[in-house]
Amino acid sequence: MSDISVSQDFSLDKAAITVLGLGHIGLPTALGLAELGRQVIGADDDAAKVQRIRAGDPNFYEPGLVELLAKHLKSGQFQPQEDVAAAVRAGSIIFICVGTPQKASGQADLGQVQAVAQVVARNLNGYKLLIEKSTVPAITAQWLRRTILRYSSRKGGPEDASASGAGPVEFDVASNPEFLREARALEDFFHPNRIVCGVESERARRILENLYSPLKRPLVVTNTSTAELIKHAANAFLSMKISFINMVSDLCEKVGADVGAVARGIGLDNRIGPQFLDAGIGYGGYCFPKDLRAFIHLAEEHGVDFGMLQEVEHVNQSRVEVYVSKIRQALWNLRGKILGVLGLAFKAGTDDIREAVCLKIIAPPRDEGCILRLYDPQAMPNTERALPASQQISYCTSAYGAAQGGHALLLLTEWPEFRDLDLSRLKSLMEVPVLVDGRNPFDPGTVRQAGFEYVSMGRPDMKPAGQHSHPGTLAASF
Ligand code: UDX
Repeated sequence: MSDISVSQDFSLDKAAITVLGLGHIGLPTALGLAELGRQVIGADDDAAKVQRIRAGDPNFYEPGLVELLAKHLKSGQFQPQEDVAAAVRAGSIIFICVGTPQKASGQADLGQVQAVAQVVARNLNGYKLLIEKSTVPAITAQWLRRTILRYSSRKGGPEDASASGAGPVEFDVASNPEFLREARALEDFFHPNRIVCGVESERARRILENLYSPLKRPLVVTNTSTAELIKHAANAFLSMKISFINMVSDLCEKVGADVGAVARGIGLDNRIGPQFLDAGIGYGGYCFPKDLRAFIHLAEEHGVDFGMLQEVEHVNQSRVEVYVSKIRQALWNLRGKILGVLGLAFKAGTDDIREAVCLKIIAPPRDEGCILRLYDPQAMPNTERALPASQQISYCTSAYGAAQGGHALLLLTEWPEFRDLDLSRLKSLMEVPVLVDGRNPFDPGTVRQAGFEYVSMGRPDMKPAGQHSHPGTLAASF
């Protein structure tokens, strides 16, 4: 692939931007920058992925992304590129958005980040600002700088690579962590609560300030290690809020309290805030689980006690057993029972099943001989690749299809369409009207009136009207 035209004039507004890695972070970032009027080259070493993107397919579901991709393929402001080296040569501002998966030890695997740094080192044909967007442990930026110096000097160095041959070419490394939520990535790109910029030079600060000025959002400028640590600390704190309310939810069930009311009662304190206090089956996804473990690992490496976060992870992992025991209590023997499963994605609004608690929850009933009828508005293709249809597993075209003949219905992902289901119709389709609710979208009284045995998280169980309830439930139903 021939070199793309290199923009020589490094005017802040015209510097070409290269985004390396076109996944859940890279593609929304690239298209967001294109929407801000910048010229963006998007590169990925998965050529097939780039070809699908060039054909208008983002490779994953994200609200609004298909439309923005079509718009900027058409406008020419976003250029997909298979040749990573050519994309590096063409860009002056280079975002690293490659994956940082988790090793068995919990440590972040930074192999892809290092590989990208080596490509940059060998293609320093002018000043470049290398920006970490991927979530990386603190001090990664220092390793990036060291890697670029090592590999550029050893392989004919910047002086050979620089077009003018006028001495070593300079570069900077910055950290600009993303705070994009899946299913709201574009909203979070254009309306972030804050933009964190970790820089080691005045020039890098100026470039980032210029880049993000159109968003008119608070800029937090720090050194690179601080910016890297902010990202891990933010995700760890949000994970902690979720495990906190889930821990409280377990106690609510013992004393007949309502965890939803507890969340409202504490969340109205503006020092606590109402968000991320939804009790349920816990957090999943590609970020919280791995970022928490990477943060804990980083602390352990430096001899700092992060026992609190280990407990956050423990509470989250225990959600699977907490929920599966509800199924057992509702159904007695599991073998041969038909379970309708509503929700497979790790959360609503995405097709992503990575670290989805849903898939961990359905494993024990499957292993014990249950028949599983699965439905999710978006995540079934991804799930079927991991869990092919079989005598025990079938994929349904609707929630009602999943409920057909069911001995229980499991609500596992908080899709809004599930909240609007016709409960009477669901009940009429089922063999036994049991609803085990893992996300609490339903009002217990409404479900009870529809004739369901209703079990949810952190709220008193509701038996169908007329059945005996223990005092705690009676109190809660008035
Ligand atoms: C998260 C962070 O929110 C985002 O800032 C960061 O950039 C990436 O990681 P994401 O993983 O997309 O985003 O999902 P998020 O919306 O944070 O939810 C994470 C998990 O927590 C989901 O499984 C969700 O179901 C669960 N969750 C969320 C709860 O169980 N209770 C809540 O109250 C909120």
